[in-house]
Amino acid sequence: MAHRSRRLRLSSAIRELIAETRIHPSQLVQPYFVQAAEGTSEIPSLPGISRMSINPLLSQIEKDLKNGLRSVLLFGVPESKTPNGLSSKNSDDVIPRAIRDLKKTFGSELIVMSDICLCAYTDHGHCGLMVDSKIHNQNSVDALVAMALNHAEAGVDIVAPSDMMDFRIGAIRQNLDMNNFEDVSILSYAIKHAGAYYGPFRDAAGSSPKFGDRQSYQMDPRNVREGLRDALQDEDQGADFLMIKPALPNLDLISKLKEMTLAPLFAYHVSSEFSSVKAADAKGWISGDQLMREHLISIKRSGADVIVSYAAREALAKGWFS
Ligand code: PBG
Ligand code: ZN
Repeated sequence: MAHRSRRLRLSSAIRELIAETRIHPSQLVQPYFVQAAEGTSEIPSLPGISRMSINPLLSQIEKDLKNGLRSVLLFGVPESKTPNGLSSKNSDDVIPRAIRDLKKTFGSELIVMSDICLCAYTDHGHCGLMVDSKIHNQNSVDALVAMALNHAEAGVDIVAPSDMMDFRIGAIRQNLDMNNFEDVSILSYAIKHAGAYYGPFRDAAGSSPKFGDRQSYQMDPRNVREGLRDALQDEDQGADFLMIKPALPNLDLISKLKEMTLAPLFAYHVSSEFSSVKAADAKGWISGDQLMREHLISIKRSGADVIVSYAAREALAKGWFS
């Protein structure tokens, strides 16, 4: 007998009964840009998101926690940039200061994750260090290892290297363990594509490369096997969590990696995925809230356990998933 499908779509109650995909507020992570200069500054290409100094950051996160948020990912907007991004390993940098204050204020209520990358700290805006106008892998890894230790000493829960240098996961793990930070976890940006998806982020962090592009370290969006291979290697090197970004263009990779790894899988709904919804909504062309919610649902449906999104705060405040 033919199956009468619409019977199971007739009421909201029955649709809720059989819904296969749900997002719990604790599975969302809100990114924050932490600036050294006191106060806040708007980011025109990321509507509703501001760079914040530590005091406004603390009050924003206090509100977010009340709405059910449990995890934050911090990006630094440092005051000074140098060829070797030296302030990334300084304990007075804005990120270790923010980590210390957040852990002191919220303790284990809040999971603090920090981005480990040099692009906001180097004057050339590349994610690694240059020698003879090339990114030098080992020098870059050494600097990232020092940056991760700096954040660990400040009390971070999870370090998240987004630089895409080779062998950084193993090097960071080894150095954390050697310094008795066995309990600090590593969230690897395991599959991260080069391309146009990160524009608004670079406005926010002031981290655009001054010359060239990131194609010699970020991955080619035409490839599947390249990313899966690296992701499994990151897991082998000691990554506790694996992340894929951008999210929507890579739902195929999320589904595939989910079948190949047993590590919790993150997806990063990146800046332009968020901003393009906001821009079209401002023009009145789409219903932004509905579309944003559909973005997050399809990312979850593809297999992501956790979603990092600029829309996390809004999703919780507006009760999209409660
Ligand atoms: C730093 C970093 C970037 C993002 C996360 N970490 C930017 C880049 O690689 O240029 C992008 C996140 C976003 O677009 O929201 N390397
Ligand atoms: Zn970078």
